Amino acid sequence: MATTLPDTASVSTGLDGHVQPAGGFGGADGRPTPGEAVLRTRGLTKRFGAITAVEGLDLEVRAGEVFGFLGPNGAGKSTTVGMVLGLIAPTSGTVELFGRPLGADRSVVARRVGAIIETPAFYPYLSGRDNLRALAMAAGGVPDGTVDRLLAQVGLTERAGGKYKTYSLGMKQRLGIASTLLTDPGLVILDEPTNGLDPAGQREIRAIIPRLAREGRAVLLASHLLNEVEHVCDRVVIVRRGRMVESGSVAALVRRGEHIEVGLAAAELAPGAEVLRGLPFVERVDIDEAARTLRVGAPAERGAELNRALAGQGLFAGTIAPRRSSLEDIFLELTEGSTPGEQAIAGAGRGRRRWRRGRAAA
Ligand SMILES: Nc1ncnc2c1ncn2[C@@H]1O[C@H](COP(=O)(O)OP(=O)(O)OP(=O)(O)O)[C@@H](O)[C@H]1O
Ligand SMILES: [Mg+2]
Repeated sequence: MATTLPDTASVSTGLDGHVQPAGGFGGADGRPTPGEAVLRTRGLTKRFGAITAVEGLDLEVRAGEVFGFLGPNGAGKSTTVGMVLGLIAPTSGTVELFGRPLGADRSVVARRVGAIIETPAFYPYLSGRDNLRALAMAAGGVPDGTVDRLLAQVGLTERAGGKYKTYSLGMKQRLGIASTLLTDPGLVILDEPTNGLDPAGQREIRAIIPRLAREGRAVLLASHLLNEVEHVCDRVVIVRRGRMVESGSVAALVRRGEHIEVGLAAAELAPGAEVLRGLPFVERVDIDEAARTLRVGAPAERGAELNRALAGQGLFAGTIAPRRSSLEDIFLELTEGSTPGEQAIAGAGRGRRRWRRGRAAA
């Protein structure tokens, strides 16, 4: 049975433009202001004996955004999450939550952070609704209607009365997300939330994530799945062996990998490259003799201008094709030469790496 998710969940915008949940059940601390840096790490480092799991990591996650924390297996994502939640003591560096250093008093984590770091434990013989009620009670109670609203938000209304043990993996994971929202956290941390789910289950989870940000929360999504991060996140940091190797908006990262392929007769490749290198918006031109193609570093929508410049010199392109690198291409490039475990993850889709080789960050 397909589960349908509510459209924009229960979001309303207050007079001050501050996004709040309908029937606001705001915790004592209230929601962060839009754009506020909810989580900051500075020089965050963790060593386990000889292994440096995380090294010098500076992160900043803001209210209203989904921040992607992307890296292959063993890159240090879960270790970082553990330090942010106060479960793992950093070797050095700092964590700041809601503008305050995370020190001996970890109560801010319980009050204002919701996290799924592994599939949460629920009572198998209780319904999804009763499981949430039990957790709500353990958390000191939540306002009336909260449980049902959260069940609706994660698309579980229809099955809310069914026993937890009869739920699919995807439903269990969605119940887990609902449970993290019971305390109306300003920061939600999801570590590999679609692990083990089939494509439909993954899609259901991914539909929920951006809504959490639209409600004004900051969302940190740790994942080794490129397309997950590409489709769900606003900004992304790519980590490898504990270090940040790339960061920026997903759009800007993808845009950086844009190029146009121009097919020309063999004899026209060199003169064609010469012509195109003279255009102001062309960053670089590589000649691929074997494919009889010029790879032109230029915005994807400027193909017609390339065509005009070539034709002006009596050179006629057989094909002009805009290409966009996916975040996956960038990720593959950045993790090139990594450990065997990492490479196994980066296994698929090696299509266009040659174009970008040599431009990788160290
Ligand atoms: N308690 C520990 N003791 C020793 N080494 C550890 C410990 N926890 C993590 N590590 C090591 O630290 C590194 C980072 O692990 P971490 O679990 O943070 O990676 P990850 O990015 O979450 O990977 P995955 O995508 O597989 O979840 C790995 O080399 C791991 O083996
Ligand atoms: Mg992990």
